[in-house]
Amino acid sequence: MHFIQSLVSLALACATAIPLIEARPSGHESRSDPLSLISPIRGFSFERMAATREPCELKPTRNFQRMKGISRKGAASRTAPVRIGAYQRQATPNDGAYQNITTTDARGVAYAVEVDINGVSVNLIVDTGSSDTWSVQSNYTCTDYMGSMLQQGACAFGHTKPQTFQYGPVPDVHLFVQYGDGEMVSGPMGLSDVTLANITVEKQQIALVNESYWIGDNYTTGILGLGYPSITDAFYGEPYDHEQYQSAPYSPVFTRMVQQGLVDPVFSLAISRNSTGGLLGWGGIPDIINGLDSSTYGYADIIIANIVGDPHTAWAYSFYTIIPDGFQFGMSTNEDKYPFIIDSGTTVNYLPLILADAINAAFDPPAKYLYSYGAYFTSCDAVAPPFSVVIGGTAFLINPKDMILRNQKDPLTGLCMTTVSTGGTGPFILGDAFLQNVLAVFDIGSAQMRFYGRPYY
Ligand SMILES: *[C@@H]1O[C@H](CO)[C@@H](O)[C@H](O)[C@H]1NC(C)=O
Ligand SMILES: *[C@@H]1O[C@H](CO)[C@@H](O)[C@H](O)[C@H]1NC(C)=O
Ligand SMILES: *[C@@H]1O[C@H](CO)[C@@H](O)[C@H](O)[C@H]1NC(C)=O
Ligand SMILES: *[C@@H]1O[C@H](CO)[C@@H](O)[C@H](O)[C@H]1NC(C)=O
Ligand SMILES: *[C@@H]1O[C@H](CO)[C@@H](O)[C@H](O)[C@H]1NC(C)=O
Ligand SMILES: *[C@@H]1O[C@H](CO)[C@@H](O)[C@H](O)[C@H]1NC(C)=O
Repeated sequence: MHFIQSLVSLALACATAIPLIEARPSGHESRSDPLSLISPIRGFSFERMAATREPCELKPTRNFQRMKGISRKGAASRTAPVRIGAYQRQATPNDGAYQNITTTDARGVAYAVEVDINGVSVNLIVDTGSSDTWSVQSNYTCTDYMGSMLQQGACAFGHTKPQTFQYGPVPDVHLFVQYGDGEMVSGPMGLSDVTLANITVEKQQIALVNESYWIGDNYTTGILGLGYPSITDAFYGEPYDHEQYQSAPYSPVFTRMVQQGLVDPVFSLAISRNSTGGLLGWGGIPDIINGLDSSTYGYADIIIANIVGDPHTAWAYSFYTIIPDGFQFGMSTNEDKYPFIIDSGTTVNYLPLILADAINAAFDPPAKYLYSYGAYFTSCDAVAPPFSVVIGGTAFLINPKDMILRNQKDPLTGLCMTTVSTGGTGPFILGDAFLQNVLAVFDIGSAQMRFYGRPYY
């Protein structure tokens, strides 16, 4: 429990709630406005997340749950690179865009947690890039991409599904979400108690999806949306209506968990190496985590990156985004300021081309970009350069283990892919290759992302 002590030393005035919207955490006044440092990225808008309280001490919490890692072969369509890439290509057709990585790693990794809805235990994918929580209901229609009916099994949802809302439907309101690659879900919304890690959020608005085109994993039945609270996909009207004027905003699960006084406005994520799983803590840091490196701590303001490329999905996705101070690799330092999405659903890191080229060249032997794969490859026993992401003045060194996907040798070339890829025109992504090295704290209340180093293991 030595980390609790070290956390106490980080304690700041916490009791004072500060007003919504214009709030800025104290101690930041001297910093230049990070938004002014970003050149606009077409297809995206950025806004600073509003703080509702002063940054304060993080508590250990017993309310945590284990996440299960799920590889979704061929169904990476919900990952941030695909979502962003689709809009980059529309917004900047002639500039760089996210490439599809077509190696064995084309599958995305998702993390699932157990959620109790109206007494039924379901496995939902944790998604920090969307804000709605839904499960498919037992009586649903599975369709193909064109909307033709298929057998239910074709959507590959998990087995156990809730069928009714505990407190009935919200009249005339439905969920409609379309994902980057055409996946679609729609269904009635209603109120149910939702229990996560022994915390029961009462009368939560959720959706029980009854129509979907979905590429499932036979395990999960829906999504737990932990995205930016204001961006939800509920609408008035017919099941497929989703114009912005029909939008029916509501408070998502985590917002209500905080509003009901059940937890502090913080959740934390510790991803295990090799996508096997991890821990998700509500209101603090899972109390079984020890060995946090208290000397390695950094934070950055949360800004929200919204995709604005398509008016129909203008508000559908949002991503928790930060601007790192820079990067260190080998003997070089780059202090250019770029927006980076923090995304556990993405395996590798996606950097600006100039950085990706330089870091890959610093491998021994150097990693080469292979056009056919859209990624960099080097020999599987290559030595990776020391590579750190600098956040809030602290350098977070990425374990060399996380610099190459050594267990996924390309059968054609015998080479292995590095975890340093290019993210077109941005925003860029810090994925699992980074998150495996830290405890990431989404301090929604004070609008900061905080990171604690985890020692190598
Ligand atoms: C990338 O993959 C998506 C989904 O499979 C596809 O729709 C898109 O056309 C591909 N883009 C490129 C540039 O290959
Ligand atoms: C199940 O769905 C079908 C088709 O959508 C519908 O005809 C049927 O009435 C539903 N059954 C129940 C019990 O809701
Ligand atoms: C899904 O639910 C909505 C709202 O309750 C209803 O209008 C629609 O017909 C249902 N769709 C199917 C396929 O059952
Ligand atoms: C779950 O919550 C109940 C009621 O607050 C409490 O009695 C119980 O000890 C908790 N269980 C765990 C495993 O924390
Ligand atoms: C899900 O199960 C079906 C039927 O058993 C199978 O055909 C399909 O490949 C499975 N999908 C995944 C992603 O495991
Ligand atoms: C991760 O995968 C590598 C390569 O397959 C393996 O050597 C290592 O033991 C795995 N680590 C964990 C924590 O499972």
